[in-house]
Amino acid sequence: MAAGGDGAGRDGVLSERGVVTGVAGLIGPHLARALLEKGHEVVGVDDLSQGRRVNLASCVEHPSFRFHEADVRDLGSMERLTAGASTLVHLAALKIPRYTGYLATLEVNGRGTEVVLECARRHGARMLFASTDDVYGKNPDPRFSEESTLVLGDSKINRWASAVSKVYGEHLCFAYAESHGVPVSIVRYSGIYGPTYQLSRLSGPQDIFIHAALTDQPMPIHGDGTQTRPFAHVSDAVEATLRVLEAPYAEGEVVNVGAADHLSIVNLAYLVWRLAGARTRPRLRFVPYTDFSRGYEDPRQRTVDIGKAECLLGWRPRIDVGEGMRRQVEWFREHLEEIRQANPGFTLEDER
Ligand SMILES: NC(=O)c1ccc[n+]([C@@H]2O[C@H](COP(=O)([O-])OP(=O)(O)OC[C@H]3O[C@@H](n4cnc5c(N)ncnc54)[C@H](O)[C@@H]3O)[C@@H](O)[C@H]2O)c1
Repeated sequence: MAAGGDGAGRDGVLSERGVVTGVAGLIGPHLARALLEKGHEVVGVDDLSQGRRVNLASCVEHPSFRFHEADVRDLGSMERLTAGASTLVHLAALKIPRYTGYLATLEVNGRGTEVVLECARRHGARMLFASTDDVYGKNPDPRFSEESTLVLGDSKINRWASAVSKVYGEHLCFAYAESHGVPVSIVRYSGIYGPTYQLSRLSGPQDIFIHAALTDQPMPIHGDGTQTRPFAHVSDAVEATLRVLEAPYAEGEVVNVGAADHLSIVNLAYLVWRLAGARTRPRLRFVPYTDFSRGYEDPRQRTVDIGKAECLLGWRPRIDVGEGMRRQVEWFREHLEEIRQANPGFTLEDER
């Protein structure tokens, strides 16, 4: 976070209070931990609808961390919890309507962002909004830069609800900046993965594949698996996010944060299978889109241009997909039992 707080933290860095919403999800705990290590005070908020308390194990013992179970749509609670904060990092969201509900996605992502921005206005705080590469939607460009046109699909297809709500959130940020002078920055994350005790496609296909490989079950692939995606390790995403928070010139900017390269889903499955050291040939189970959602639309290819983050923030991902997936497989192997306990009732058959 930018200097200007009122207390001296470790390493002589000025400490500030930051609020991280959605702190118990995938990115939240890693970001909170990094902010604590920089000497900041962190108030974490999550309603635990998707996140897990166990994800916060590395934060809860820290004297400068406080966790509150709260709904970001609740203005009264959020106004209280954000009091005294100089920075609000708004990660809380529902990501895929197919799993989390069509209406709930629109309400949590829309109303939640309205509330957090209103808190930023009332307390004079800075806002970092977590958006998504899904806003590029059906744009046929081979690579999406921040200037690419946002091309969303048919409103009768509920998978677009998340992207629509994020586009709304982005506009709301700039509207609050224009009308109320709230300093805002937007990060469009893309394919972030890393240690988390959530086990579902909400944390990316790699965890489903790793679970399958370690338990010698077929890996469920959506469509024919030739669709491509970037995969970026959470430690790189956190580093980029910190740089956005620290760079005064990132104010008012939208920045893609993802990987420089991409992989087809079927190649991701092969990679994971090999890294897991499975003895048998990879077993793939192809799931036609029509099996899990009427009229589902999965963008064929998604590659993000991260040149702006490189130029503006001096950031590039340090962990390539081979090394990142190796770490992910090892982490998963070490924590398989705790992951199972955190996800009672999880079966790969349900993971269409
Ligand atoms: N991980 C990625 O690859 C990726 C890609 C694009 C965008 N993003 C965005 O980045 C942000 C963080 O992503 P993530 O992967 O950590 O997501 P996540 O789903 O793991 O975490 C989101 C957290 O928000 C919480 N939450 C949901 N509704 C809430 C509510 N009403 N009140 C309070 N908390 C609530 C959930 O319990 C969860 O812990 C999200 O906004 C997401 O849309 C992430």
